[in-house]
Amino acid sequence: MSRPPAPATQPGPAASDTHPALTDRALAELRREFPILHTHTYLNSCSLGALSTRAEQRLGHFLELWHTMGASAWYEHWLGRLQELREQVEGLLGAAPGSVGLSPSTSVAISSFVESLDFDSRPRVVIADLDFPTLGHQFQVKPEVELVVVRSQDGVGVDPEQFREVVDERTALVATSHVFYATGFRQDLAALGRIAREAGALSLVDGYQGAGQVDVDVSAAGIDAYTTGPLKWLLGGPGLSYLWVRPELISRLEPRITSWFAAEDQFDFGLEDFRFRPDARRFEMGTPALPTVHTALGGQELLLEVGMAAVEARNRFLTRHVEAGLEARGFRLRQARDPAERTAIVMVEHENAPDAVARLAREGIVVDHRPGCVRVSPHVYNTLEEMDRFVEALPES
Ligand SMILES: Cc1ncc(COP(=O)(O)O)c(C=O)c1O
Repeated sequence: MSRPPAPATQPGPAASDTHPALTDRALAELRREFPILHTHTYLNSCSLGALSTRAEQRLGHFLELWHTMGASAWYEHWLGRLQELREQVEGLLGAAPGSVGLSPSTSVAISSFVESLDFDSRPRVVIADLDFPTLGHQFQVKPEVELVVVRSQDGVGVDPEQFREVVDERTALVATSHVFYATGFRQDLAALGRIAREAGALSLVDGYQGAGQVDVDVSAAGIDAYTTGPLKWLLGGPGLSYLWVRPELISRLEPRITSWFAAEDQFDFGLEDFRFRPDARRFEMGTPALPTVHTALGGQELLLEVGMAAVEARNRFLTRHVEAGLEARGFRLRQARDPAERTAIVMVEHENAPDAVARLAREGIVVDHRPGCVRVSPHVYNTLEEMDRFVEALPES
């Protein structure tokens, strides 16, 4: 969608922006990395994270090697970049070495994990009605799976006890989101992991709306698998996803969909003697998208420089500010009652959301809509001034 150029805004933060998570100077430097922030009020990071010059430079380097070296860049450079990315993601997620693999999409990452499970003695899979559709679709195409959908009572979140009520000795998997995409509700990973474990089931978390906006420590969470990708909060663009699997579990799982990237001796080219790699690369599904490998390395490096604890703290700071401003104007928010369960996806009830989003776009303010709501999703690089600009510009109807 093309948007008209908006009045240029200063990349520097407003004076009132001071927050311990990020000094004014660090924030100004961070904002300089993102050209879109110089021309737009960009508040849609849960759809697509902003492109940084750092990511663009990494992409440029990749293109340069493609021009100058062609395929020989694979061995000298690009295989190394794939490994650099796996290790960078491990750093972002608090994961052990060898526990992250690359996938073409989150749907494929979920599929390759699910295709390693046996539903014979445990046919049940439990998901939530607020999960992203692709999670439900995985199981609807498996007639052997008894799919149980936990239903939200308030349309915003799910109480972990609702999972406990239906997770039993016939349950193979609890598969649900870290952060619900349409409400921003953050689930308690430790509680979900415990509920699954106590029933002898596994837990798989779709963290596409989690990692990158909140600080995740998958090793401490007590879950079995976590998927995410660079498209949104991780600032790395479309074309890849990541799958983390608990290290002790990896050798027990053999997915029934696979590729040569999963083979222990990938470059022996043995057609008839496939053996799985011992690490999480056994879930990989073919050649990863190299352009995205490079943009992801650049975007994620910026988040690591800020530090994920600081990113989460700043996102909370911005979110509280925009929530307060919207409530002061009389808007109703569709959000969790407990602030600890809220994230930087803010849903504003609106009777004419598509029109409001289009009108905001004409003023250079980029947000989105979902049925009945305007959705605003600030990220670490946004400012309080931008929050205020959105709040003031949001039409009442
Ligand atoms: C929470 C969540 N899970 C999964 C997906 C789908 O990911 P993919 O298209 O990479 O399969 C999305 C896409 O927006 C999402 O928000």
